[in-house]
Parts: sequence; C-alpha cells; structure tokens
Amino acid sequence: MQRIVVTGGAGFIGSNFVHHVVRETDLFVTVLDKLTYAGNRESVEALPADRVDLVVGDIADAELVDGLAASHDAIVHFAAESHNDNSLQGPRPFLDTNIVGTYTLLEAVRKHGTRFHHISTDEVYGDLEFDDPNRFTESTPYNPSSPYSSTKAGSDLLVRAWVRSFGVQATISNCSNNYGPWQHIEKFIPRQITGLIDGIRPRVYGDGRNVRDWIHAEDHSSAVMTILEKGRIGETYLIGADGEKTNKEVVEMLLQLFGRPADDFDHVTDRAGHDLRYAIDSTKLRTELGWTPRFTDFAAGLDDTVQWYRDHEEWWRPKKAEVEAKYAALGQ
Ligand code: NAD
Ligand code: DAU
Repeated sequence: MQRIVVTGGAGFIGSNFVHHVVRETDLFVTVLDKLTYAGNRESVEALPADRVDLVVGDIADAELVDGLAASHDAIVHFAAESHNDNSLQGPRPFLDTNIVGTYTLLEAVRKHGTRFHHISTDEVYGDLEFDDPNRFTESTPYNPSSPYSSTKAGSDLLVRAWVRSFGVQATISNCSNNYGPWQHIEKFIPRQITGLIDGIRPRVYGDGRNVRDWIHAEDHSSAVMTILEKGRIGETYLIGADGEKTNKEVVEMLLQLFGRPADDFDHVTDRAGHDLRYAIDSTKLRTELGWTPRFTDFAAGLDDTVQWYRDHEEWWRPKKAEVEAKYAALGQ
C-alpha cells in the first residue's frame, strides 16, 4: 500500500489520523473533504506537500470519487455529518453524506477493487443502563437513537452488504467518544474548554449523569492503522480505551484545571432522546490484532487538550459566537 484517500481528513478525527499517518508511515495521503462548517483546511495545511494533498469535494460526487478510487490503494472513510444536536435540528444532510456518500464510495471501491475502511461509532448500538454489567461488543444488536446514529448504522449495514454481495474488500470500526486537538467547538469537551477560557460557566445537559467512554484521538488513529494493516476483510472491530466518565465528572475535572470550584457550572435543557451510557469492550481488537491504547491517563490528556485550545485560539475563536448563539436559541 502506497497511496491512500482519507475522507473527512480536514475534520477532527480525520485530521488527527492524517497527522498520525504522516508521522508513523511512508504513505501518501489524499484528503477528500467538502470543508463543511466542521472541516478546516488549517488542520492539515502545515503538513508536507509531498506527503499530503487536499482535494475539496463531496464524497457523494460519483465521478470525483471514482477517479480517486482508481488511483489509490485504499480509502479510509471518516467523512460524515457527526453532531447529534445538529441531526435533531436538520437531519437531511446526515442522510445525504452518511448514507448516500457512503454508498457512492462503496460503488467506486467495488468497481476498482480498492481496499476500504469504514469509520463508525458505538452509538449504532443505542445506549446501556447505568448499572448494566455488559459493554458493547461486535455482536451487540443495532439500536440507534438519533438521526445521526441511525444514518451511521445505515452506512455500516451498506458496507456489510457490499462485502457479502459484491466482495468489496472492507473492514469496519466502531469507536467510542474521542477527545483531543482539532475538535470542533460544538462538541462537549472543546465547548466547555473554550467557554472556560472566556470565563463562561460550563453547560451540562440534564442531570449530568450520562456516561461517555472517552478515548484520545491518537489512540483511535493507531487502532485504525492497525485494522487497515492487519484486519480481516468483512470484520468489524470495536475501538475503546476503558474511559467511562459521567459528563459531570468531566466538567468537574475541567473546572479543577481552570482553578474554579467544582460546582461552578449550569444544568441546561437536556438533549431529546439523550443516550444514557456508552461503553466499549475492545477485546477482539486487542487480542486478534494486538492493539493497545497508549493515552489512557484521561486527566493528563484533558490537561494537554486544554493547553492545545489555549495555544490555538486563532483556530477556534472565529466560530465561538455562532456556536454559542445556536445553543442559546435551544436553551442549551
Ligand atoms: P467532524 O464533524 O469533525 O469532521 C467531519 C469531516 O467530514 C469534516 O471535515 C467535513 O468537512 C467532512 N465532510 C462532511 N460531509 C462531507 C461530504 N459530503 N463530503 C466530503 N467531506 C465531508 O467529525 P469527527 O468527529 O472527526 O468524526 C469523523 C468520523 O468518526 C465520523 O464518521 C464519525 O461518525 C466517526 N466517529 C466520531 C467519534 C467522535 O467522538 N467524534 C467517535 C466515533 C466515531
Ligand atoms: O460515541 C461516539 C460519538 O461521540 C460520535 O459518534 C459522535 O460523532 C460524537 O459527536 C460523540 O457524540 P456525543 O453526542 O456523545 O458527543 P457530544 O460531544 O455532543 O456530547 C457528549 C456528551 O455531553 C453527551 O452526553 C451530551 C453532553 N453535552 C454536550 C454538549 C455539547 C453536554 O452536557 N453539554 C454540552 O454543551
């Protein structure tokens, strides 16, 4: 393998992955990204031009995608509409990108025999009760709750069908909640960090007991690389780093990093259909492919992430007022 396409490589996890690939391998990367509100060319523009090329375009553009599938060895597919709150306000782009876009890519890799890795989410499994001793595994039934997660579930099922019916050379991974640099400030952790930098009290949906299973984006990248190199075609691998925390716990840790009292936050209107808890069992990936997460000290990772947002104010500042105005209109 010499040349890969990374769809959504100007977004949060995609850009972390592109940095990882440039650092850890000799591969040439073509980023295919539409540069929606969530994409930012600055996230990849400092990388060497002889290693990374940015193609601005839509994954649902069949002609464009066909040409890229023909001229590359693999496509790693991160591009998506990714934010649950947006999917509740306007689901249509989620169908266009997550379903039709994935379908378009599958038809292209089917035609050219290109290796395909599909990035997905633990949200396809729905949620767990707080006291459920089980975690999600590769055999947990699909039960998505939101327009976002239902379109991701639909895209996963398309990939499975294209493998079985057409012999497409694909793997799938479903990962838990990522944090780290380059994450859009509409998301929970960077929203609170950038708010705290501005002296705004964190906003916690509902009672704050909801649990997310946090993994550093760098560990997600190393897991995807491992699957791309060693994964068995047709298989799904769950990616997680045993990082369960309630939203309230995360906010309290952030408040401590900013030297503020642990109760210095607001409870705001809850998300409709808000999933209670996600938790990943990544035994298959660890035992079959030998992957282990390295950035498992969440407190240290959060501290580094706060520092990253302090150091990259020019990257997020232009978006802050608009994001907060959108949340304010929803009482959040
Ligand atoms: P993001 O919203 O930060 O980035 C998405 C990127 O895709 C952006 O650069 C955007 O411009 C691009 N894009 C959107 N529509 C496009 C289209 N039609 N054509 C081309 N490019 C398009 O998302 P993220 O948080 O980095 O998530 C990346 C992937 O990882 C998604 O598939 C998501 O479902 C999955 N995932 C995310 C998490 C998480 O915690 N953020 C966890 C598990 C899985
Ligand atoms: O589990 C993987 C998923 O994680 C990915 O598939 C999604 O693309 C990604 O956005 C993320 O989804 P969540 O809905 O879990 O992430 P979000 O950052 O939106 O919210 C995390 C938790 O924090 C969730 O319980 C809602 C809550 N929240 C969010 C915001 C923005 C708050 O309490 N306050 C907030 O201001």
